[in-house]
Amino acid sequence: MLLQLALMSLLALAGTGDGAKTSTHIRFYMHDIFTGLPGRPATAVRIARGTTPLPDDPRLRFGDMYAIDDLLTEGPDAASPALGRAKGFYIITSETKLDLMLTFNMVFTAGPYNGSTIAVMYRDLTTDKVRELPVVGGTGVFRGVTGYGLHRTQAFNVTNLNAVLKIDMYLRF
Ligand SMILES: *[C@@H]1O[C@H](CO)[C@@H](O)[C@H](O)[C@H]1NC(C)=O
Ligand SMILES: *[C@@H]1O[C@H](CO)[C@@H](O)[C@H](O)[C@H]1NC(C)=O
Repeated sequence: MLLQLALMSLLALAGTGDGAKTSTHIRFYMHDIFTGLPGRPATAVRIARGTTPLPDDPRLRFGDMYAIDDLLTEGPDAASPALGRAKGFYIITSETKLDLMLTFNMVFTAGPYNGSTIAVMYRDLTTDKVRELPVVGGTGVFRGVTGYGLHRTQAFNVTNLNAVLKIDMYLRF
């Protein structure tokens, strides 16, 4: 779809009050490869094992921690143009459901934000349709950035737990 190809549907508007600021919407997709597949190594790797198995999926436990280096792309297909990576970690913060805390940097390596990063820290209660991401800060063109993001599940495979997440960022910088 053209709109998706035009991915960084960026909407640069003059800021109100502060002439130096712009408001921008950036959309991209994050590929959380929990289980490696031929030609696609895992990009979410368990680095600490928790205690209580989750009732809905005993493969996962309260306290499990995963390091991530997830691909970010313009479209939902992993083969669509790459924009960067989400680098950080997440931890399961519930004994009863898949409720995560994520902390990572969105590291852009292509497109208009190449070389810049955005830091986020947020709760991902995976049963919620939309999860909100507070922006912690940024570097490069995003130095001093404020704003928020919305995280939605685009695709989730219950067998191998691989997910594609749709992320919309609403930023002022
Ligand atoms: C991103 O920036 C780096 C450093 O300036 C440059 O080497 C690289 O070619 C750029 N990548 C793209 C896809 O523009
Ligand atoms: C889900 O994962 C399983 C195991 O890797 C795979 O066989 C299946 O094709 C996947 N389903 C989809 C819709 O990709």
